[in-house]
Amino acid sequence: MPATVIVGAQWGDEGKGKIVDLLAQHSDVVCRYQGGPNAGHTIVVGDETYKIRALPSGVVRGKPCVIGNGCVVDPEVLIAELDEFERRGHPSCEVYLSGNAHLIMPWHLAIDQASERRLGKLAIGTTRRGIGPCYADKAMRLGIRVQDVLDAKILRQKIEVALAEKNLWLERVYETEPFDLETVAAKYEGYAQRLRPLVADTSLYVDRALRDGKDVLFEGAQATLLDLDHGTYPFVTSSNPVAASAATGVGIGPQRIDRVVGVAKAYVTRVGEGPFPSEIEGDEQARMRELGAEYGTVTGRERRCGWLDLVALRYAVRVNGIDHLALTKLDVLSHFAELPVCIRYRTPDGVEMGDFPAHQSDFHAARPVYEVLEGWNEPLDGCSSVAELPAAARGYVEFVERELDVEVMLVGTGAERSSVLTRA
Ligand code: GDP
Ligand code: IMO
Ligand code: MG
Repeated sequence: MPATVIVGAQWGDEGKGKIVDLLAQHSDVVCRYQGGPNAGHTIVVGDETYKIRALPSGVVRGKPCVIGNGCVVDPEVLIAELDEFERRGHPSCEVYLSGNAHLIMPWHLAIDQASERRLGKLAIGTTRRGIGPCYADKAMRLGIRVQDVLDAKILRQKIEVALAEKNLWLERVYETEPFDLETVAAKYEGYAQRLRPLVADTSLYVDRALRDGKDVLFEGAQATLLDLDHGTYPFVTSSNPVAASAATGVGIGPQRIDRVVGVAKAYVTRVGEGPFPSEIEGDEQARMRELGAEYGTVTGRERRCGWLDLVALRYAVRVNGIDHLALTKLDVLSHFAELPVCIRYRTPDGVEMGDFPAHQSDFHAARPVYEVLEGWNEPLDGCSSVAELPAAARGYVEFVERELDVEVMLVGTGAERSSVLTRA
């Protein structure tokens, strides 16, 4: 398929990196279209583990990588990642960085941290990587963009103008240290020298690739329920991870997208605050966390764990237009004798609903209605296709397909790159 979007169908960390790495084998270009270094995408290749934050995951397969205009870029993180890939034997990373992407500046990190501290019990639980403040400046038309690094004088001027306001906020509102113009300007001029050769017209590049019949992957970061418009606001990120955003985040028309693949865990995790109806109560949650190694890739925080939520997943199918699903981490469920799956929500007045609530207060009050499926109690290591799964595991996959009316095209059975089953 020429243009395929890979999108997180839950609250993030579904295993998007691994699925992108798999599909990248047969692709010519891989693009990120939103988000920034709040993402942590893991790829395990034998003894090597890559935790990728800024680059598209296609970098591990040596594919040309596009960072689209919809992304926010922390130059320090991007440069460190490029250096790391070079050290690890990928010297010729081909990276095309949109001049329209916004730069994360030091004050974005400081404001993200200070505002979370200030919110106290109402904190969102952000990754504190400056994402929200950077996108806020973009919307306020105060941002500094990648293309501003092309001219040292313009870059310095923009930093000076921004600092005049940001330092007031930092000192008077957040009561933290201001930034020194000379220090920031010198640091970003250093980054600018590294970034300049990467800056490209990425919309034109991707358009040409598609016209030439090449296969292009669009790698979502974060996920549907963290989407600024469609997620569980305000406990969301500040960009649009949903599939349609691949078009605006790279600069192609929406009709160019041929296929949308949703990535979902066979259960659910969430990092940070916010409602989570199918969150597991009691000791079983810690057990799931240990079995699934559910600790944040970026922040190391414990991920909250829950049973598979088909109401939320049905919603993700709708808002993304998901054609196929990749169901990851099925192996983690091998350790449970019974597998509750949330099929509906129940409101406090006893009404059951199969569709995701449209309003925040209804979602906060929603309680899960479970159907309990039987476990399979055996490892999945020996299986080489979905057809070879134990009957109960196949039943689990087919239950998901029936409930959502979407085909599961891939099933994850382990962290390693090769631990994934196709239908055939
Ligand atoms: P992403 O942000 O969506 O790319 O996901 P993360 O990399 O943050 O988190 C997924 C975690 O699960 C990583 O540690 C992966 O190595 C791991 N993983 C991915 N697929 C599977 C799978 O099928 N089984 C198991 N056990 N681990 C997996
Ligand atoms: P990947 O791409 C899981 C969560 C944070 C917080 C909220 C807002 O690896 O799936 P932000 O720093 O974006 O302002 O934080 O979003 N969050 C993620 N959770 N995986 C991610 O990325 C996430 N990126 C942000 O925990 O709840
Ligand atoms: Mg992640």
